[in-house]
Amino acid sequence: MTDFNTDNMPFDCERGFTIDFDLKSGFSSLKETSLRPLSVVKGIFSDEDAADTILKKQDPLIYEFHELSVPEHAGDLAFGCSKVHPGKVGKEYYMTKGHFHTVLDTGEVYYCLAGHGYMMLENPEGDWSALELRSGKAVYVPRRYAHRSINVDPVEPLVTFFVFRADAGHDYGTIAQNGYRNLLVEENGEPRIMVNPKWNQG
Ligand SMILES: [Fe+2]
Repeated sequence: MTDFNTDNMPFDCERGFTIDFDLKSGFSSLKETSLRPLSVVKGIFSDEDAADTILKKQDPLIYEFHELSVPEHAGDLAFGCSKVHPGKVGKEYYMTKGHFHTVLDTGEVYYCLAGHGYMMLENPEGDWSALELRSGKAVYVPRRYAHRSINVDPVEPLVTFFVFRADAGHDYGTIAQNGYRNLLVEENGEPRIMVNPKWNQG
């Protein structure tokens, strides 16, 4: 079946459009993902020596996500899939940079399509949680909380579908400068919360 649409413009945010996302890989046949290899995001990991050691041999892909160019308009919704690959830098799992929204009072929904991981949440006052994600589970990211997805599976990627208001913007700088209060690391084969020794109160 095809759409009943008088003008099948791709990514038509004025009249509506469809797009495919694979339930296992998160990929779309219509849109490439933006790539974040270790060389680009190595500063997010606490063990800089471990990152440098890896980079001497290879530059693994840490995560990738869709940027669909939805207009940054108050009534629009930005969406896409995020895919965090399996692996660790030192004891720390592969993860996304993490961000606040520029419009801090903005929530977001992530629906886990595949894999096993956590959403690390933290607000400016220091309240935090790490919520487990598995296929079929959705997580509500509340207003004012920075969010970062972390893949704890040794083999499978963590694939999530996200939706948030398109004019919210991304504040990556606060996390880049201060870090998160807590890290999710592997100890004895299990995920553990560890206080971030490099956390900067800002
Ligand atoms: Fe977000």
